[in-house]
Amino acid sequence: MSPLSQFFLRQRAELQRGPATLWLNPPGDLPWREFDHSGSFLAFSQDHVSASALRDTGAAVDFGVLPQAASPWQRLVITLPREKQRLDMLLRWAATALGEDGECLLAGEIRAGAKSAAKRLQQHFVHSRKIDNARHCVLYSAHSPRGDQEFCWQQQLQYWPLDLLTPPLQVASLPGVFAQGALDAGSQLLLETLAQQSFIERPRVLDLGCGSGVLGCWFLRHRPAAEMVMTDSSALALAATRATLKAARQHAQVLASDGLRDVQGRFDLIISNPPFHVGHQEQKQLSQRLFAPLRDFLKPGGRCIMVANRHLNYHRWLEQLSGHVHVLAQTSRFQVFCLSA
Ligand SMILES: C[S@@+](CC[C@H](N)C(=O)[O-])C[C@H]1O[C@@H](n2cnc3c(N)ncnc32)[C@H](O)[C@@H]1O
Repeated sequence: MSPLSQFFLRQRAELQRGPATLWLNPPGDLPWREFDHSGSFLAFSQDHVSASALRDTGAAVDFGVLPQAASPWQRLVITLPREKQRLDMLLRWAATALGEDGECLLAGEIRAGAKSAAKRLQQHFVHSRKIDNARHCVLYSAHSPRGDQEFCWQQQLQYWPLDLLTPPLQVASLPGVFAQGALDAGSQLLLETLAQQSFIERPRVLDLGCGSGVLGCWFLRHRPAAEMVMTDSSALALAATRATLKAARQHAQVLASDGLRDVQGRFDLIISNPPFHVGHQEQKQLSQRLFAPLRDFLKPGGRCIMVANRHLNYHRWLEQLSGHVHVLAQTSRFQVFCLSA
């Protein structure tokens, strides 16, 4: 069990008492039945992987950007996200979604930024205090929300121009979505490499871990007839991708998926700048898990072109995966690999 779920268990007495509670972004391994006396465990997750893990154990969990407006909540339990802007967004929403007497509990690992979280709580609530601190985790309680206007996440959408294209592609971003305001250096090397490749007129393409949608939308500019599928595990990323597509007047299937798990069919091309940080742990294992079934998703002659941080030393592992691996480009920091079916 993760340290955070162990910490939540430690708070069981506190969390079992009191009014109906909405859990926001609970860890996927939360032993939720321990907190649920009346069959009323309610949860909402911005992460498809955690939501699916909890659903697999029978919990009712909604997935999306933020819960729909409902009558004010009496208590919210929020897991501290790693990204400060995403925390701000969650707390702004919480301050408007809680009733006047409601309580906002914020829990997370100290290394996820718990110290600055205390300051951020004060910006959105009149009263806040630390309740407990153990197992490298901390729990805060806050009352008396300062928010008085309805909070609309669509107003958080921001756009930045991808100048690699003329006219520039307007790329949408939401708090916590990868590469805010500018193209990631690894993604740039991947796009520059893709620009030198040839593709059939109507390829079926998967943008795996699409983030803001920058890779898939760039590709659609080059091959407008492509059948594009864009997947990510983050609801915020999927919303940003939809906004990027809309701004570009492009069309794609946008899908919540844990890696290739929820993807159907085979592809001529899979493009990816895969995730290698989860929380604060560098996780080559995550990418290894995501790409393990890769060959089952490539058509004969199909290719996967992906960028990876050079120090992760992906080459040998990718060779085990495909047998046909070429390095198409490299810098001191990144390598672009091509895996063929
Ligand atoms: C390095 S970012 C790349 C984003 C975008 N393609 C770009 O180039 O800017 C990796 C993306 O993978 C997503 N991701 C993380 N874990 C995932 C999983 N299990 N399944 C699918 N996507 C995941 C993250 O949400 C993030 O958007």
